Amino acid sequence: MIPSPDDVKAAWNEWSDVYSRRYERNNVTFAISLSSMLQIFEEKPAKILEVACGSGVFSRYLAQNVEHECDLTAIDVSEEMIARAKSFSTKFPSMPNIKVCYEAGDAEDLSKIADESVDVYIANFCLHLVSDPKKMLQELKRVLKKGKRFGVSVLGPSERVTMLSALPPLLKQLAEEIPALKPEKEMRSLFYMGNKEDLVKLIEDAGLEVDYCWYQRSSFNCMTVEDYESFLLETPNFKNLIGKLNEEERKRVLEAARKRLKEAFVDQKEPGMNEGLLLVGRKP
Ligand SMILES: C[S@@+](CC[C@H](N)C(=O)[O-])C[C@H]1O[C@@H](n2cnc3c(N)ncnc32)[C@H](O)[C@@H]1O
Repeated sequence: MIPSPDDVKAAWNEWSDVYSRRYERNNVTFAISLSSMLQIFEEKPAKILEVACGSGVFSRYLAQNVEHECDLTAIDVSEEMIARAKSFSTKFPSMPNIKVCYEAGDAEDLSKIADESVDVYIANFCLHLVSDPKKMLQELKRVLKKGKRFGVSVLGPSERVTMLSALPPLLKQLAEEIPALKPEKEMRSLFYMGNKEDLVKLIEDAGLEVDYCWYQRSSFNCMTVEDYESFLLETPNFKNLIGKLNEEERKRVLEAARKRLKEAFVDQKEPGMNEGLLLVGRKP
């Protein structure tokens, strides 16, 4: 099932707390790579649009590192994320040369932004989440000036995003005996866009040019089994899932999860990994 825009917004409002405390610093590496490939520091774009800014970690990076005069608009569909981004930005003020504006807004409907008004568009880990990626790309194309650059990223293939794919097979197996673990509805996979050829085609079919598209990995900062477990217990999806179980079932699931996380990461001396599929291109 494809999530509706309201589903996406509600899910990310729920995720915003744990995302801003524990997740964003693991994802910012991908946004920084995109910004380097977008030549932000060399070409000095005057108007930068960050779509799906989350709790603002990448905007803060730009706000403290860009040396030229520019405006940065950072939007996210989740008001909770925007509230967190705004509160961080008072704690970590921007350089005087950059004006940062955080606003709630939807990647699929950028109607508050004028046609061909943006010099660089960047959306880290959003295209695979929106209800209609084609609509998001139409909006990207509309707001970007001709000849200017954009960068997007999506999750890579599930088997290489071990941080997110280590547990679902275990939960599926356990669901044979614990029916409450069965998902109420089958949602579209988070990894459905993680194939390079398909992503390049999607972008080109939208009338945009692709310069580069590549897979990139990054570690997730859990060190011990307890770190993995406490992270897991804070994620809304897992919290909601085990909230439906009785005491004994919960104990069984947690023990099995702990064992799986230990075997998959700690014992292998390989941290949980995230893999992105990144793409930079231009509007012809
Ligand atoms: C994985 S997080 C990435 C956040 C940020 N780009 C980062 O790298 O830390 C995905 C973000 O996309 C946002 N998002 C999802 N659908 C969106 C949409 N249609 N328009 C704007 N933001 C959206 C979510 O609210 C969430 O903050």
